[in-house]
Amino acid sequence: MTDTTHNASAASADSGRSDNAMWSGRMAFILAASGSAVGLGNIWKFPYITGENGGAAFVLVYLLCIALVGLPIMVAEVALGRAGRSSPINTMKALTRRDSQSSKWVFIGWMGMAASFLILSFYSVIGGWSLAYVGNAASGTFNGASSEEIGALFGGLLSSPGTLMIWHSIFMVLVIMIVARGISSGMEKAINILMPILFFLLLVMVGYAMSTSEFGKGFDFLFKPDFSKLTTDSVLTALGHAFFTLSLGMGVMMAYGSFLPKNVSIVKTAVTVSIVDTIVALAAGLAIFPLVFANGLEPTAGPGLIFQTLPLAFGKMGGGTVFGTLFFALLLIAAVTSAISMMEPVVEWLEEQKGISRRAGALIGGISIWLLGIATVLSFNEWADFHPLNFLPAFEGKTFFDIFDYLTANIMMPLGGLMIVAYVGWVMKRETIENELVLDRGALLNLLMFVMRYVAPALVLVVFLYNLL
Ligand code: PFF
Repeated sequence: MTDTTHNASAASADSGRSDNAMWSGRMAFILAASGSAVGLGNIWKFPYITGENGGAAFVLVYLLCIALVGLPIMVAEVALGRAGRSSPINTMKALTRRDSQSSKWVFIGWMGMAASFLILSFYSVIGGWSLAYVGNAASGTFNGASSEEIGALFGGLLSSPGTLMIWHSIFMVLVIMIVARGISSGMEKAINILMPILFFLLLVMVGYAMSTSEFGKGFDFLFKPDFSKLTTDSVLTALGHAFFTLSLGMGVMMAYGSFLPKNVSIVKTAVTVSIVDTIVALAAGLAIFPLVFANGLEPTAGPGLIFQTLPLAFGKMGGGTVFGTLFFALLLIAAVTSAISMMEPVVEWLEEQKGISRRAGALIGGISIWLLGIATVLSFNEWADFHPLNFLPAFEGKTFFDIFDYLTANIMMPLGGLMIVAYVGWVMKRETIENELVLDRGALLNLLMFVMRYVAPALVLVVFLYNLL
């Protein structure tokens, strides 16, 4: 982001910041938005929920959700942010006030902020696992280890609240430090270099997976659908994950969009980010499932899946120590670039309140999130059998970590997304949205508007209500 002053006509809402810092251009925004989208969701969560939900049929539903729900919502969210030019809460306040609409729509901003809090609190704990694994890989722990030994290593990490706390704390300190400084051009440059390296390493891992005996089985598991394995719950999970992986429904893309220059096409940008995100997730799946089958592991292993499969490969391949260290370092970086984006709506909003500096905002927000993260740390050990919401059927048998995950991905993000498309598609002045999408005229835009107004809200509603009833 450079400090170019944005042109006055861009300040379409009355509280728009007058000397907004801007992304330096389309590429910078794509990188930042991809940095937010590509994270633990792609490499950690996508493979394990695909494993838990039976494979290819789930993947197919997930891809449909990305195209029919995720993409239009991303366009809506970025457009809304650029129209409002403030934090999500103040964007909604400004737009609804200017156009004399109900102030209830500001709820979009509040719920997004609450979701950011909840997600980052557990995201940071898992980010801590990647930190721990950078150390494990670098010290050669994986070399020649059996799957039992790798399993025990992971089990040992989870069973120790103290160790988890240390890594969780380091992760949060990193995030707070970066956010406190603002997203500098340095960050942009760093993402510019790191994302391609992450791609490359994923390709190396896919290459390794191809050399194992079970590549075909892993491939079929991901791409040969068996619809008998699909449950309504997995459809909700796929929908929720589409939101999670694209960072939607909670104002993050809105906050990032508020820094987007006027001359950038929102549709093209959103399509690019969605494609990058999807490719990374599928590559992660292709790298992981062949190893799962080749080593007699279970695809249903849950959150520990990648931490129990990839180290096996690193332990066996030439140069595994280097590749392993790099891989977990990049996973960590992908996690950090997503985590800082989650802080953005919170910090931007705190900053807009009188007398709170960006630093103080980052500190206040970060410490509160860190504290909440302790509930997730304990979910894997001391509180593993504590199911606080057992009296609600949807939350039966769920630990704090499971609850935060379910609540955000399956309820808050889809609901936020639904409200965003409802507002942009039906309530926001036609002129405002057309103004934002003026570079995207033509058939694609018409199709997209149709999907935004009818298809996306209908799908989210149906899946939602079906699950509720
Ligand atoms: N999209 C990120 C991932 O896939 O890891 C997670 C995420 C980031 C979710 C930012 C929500 C968000 F606002």
